[in-house]
Amino acid sequence: MLKGEIRKPIIAGNWKMHKMHLEGVKLVEEIDNSLDKNLDIEVVIIPPFTALRSISTVIKANQMKIKLGAQNMHYMSEGPFTGEISPLMLKALDIEYVIIGHSERREYFDETDELINKKLKKALEVGIKPILCVGEPLRIREIGKQKQYVREQLNNCLEGLNENYVHNIVIAYEPIWAIGTGKTATPEDANFMISFIRQRISKIFSPVISEKIRIQYGGSVKPFSIVPIMVQPEIDGVLVGGASLNAQDFSDIVNYKKKLKNI
Ligand code: PGA
Repeated sequence: MLKGEIRKPIIAGNWKMHKMHLEGVKLVEEIDNSLDKNLDIEVVIIPPFTALRSISTVIKANQMKIKLGAQNMHYMSEGPFTGEISPLMLKALDIEYVIIGHSERREYFDETDELINKKLKKALEVGIKPILCVGEPLRIREIGKQKQYVREQLNNCLEGLNENYVHNIVIAYEPIWAIGTGKTATPEDANFMISFIRQRISKIFSPVISEKIRIQYGGSVKPFSIVPIMVQPEIDGVLVGGASLNAQDFSDIVNYKKKLKNI
């Protein structure tokens, strides 16, 4: 099984527009305290921009294993782009991951596949690992066209990416109807879609790259739903929204292997 051997599981918490910077520092300390000492998965927290500097300092000072991500970035290194954040500014704060193309950015900020493609290219160029979000809205799921929809997103977003670096991308399959709604895809269905995404990566790039790329599930992941998701063979981790704002919930998700032993 390649999961766990070639592909280290990755659990990320997207705080969205929540937490003042001091609250963020407290939360990251609480999460760090509760992590299993021999954890063999990558844990990433993704706070809002205003908390990144403080949290980066705390992670470094305490040599935490937790990695840091940002929720968005611009595709240029610098320039007259009022209100935007450059990837180099993130890099300077030791930020390792960046979410690109979250469905909320696509929906509320009109981000297109074309723009997402530019951001992906830039993130790979500067050495920040992108977490590319894809996933279908409810109206597409209802007519059973989710595979076609996600295929189109992948074709557009991944076009022309540098094959030498593309294995650094993490893909998050997040069916939009499952985000923040309490509805989750069944673990089997999520596994099916993720397996489909891996096949597409194999076609677009190569089988070797498709075996290396980690693919997460996202959408209303909670402590009670994590185990059936993580035991699926194709699912390499989760992108958590709401449940990542609470230290106990997020730690329970990250430490899911403890529950596995009890099954
Ligand atoms: P949720 O958010 O866990 O609150 O559904 C997931 C996400 O948007 O990444």
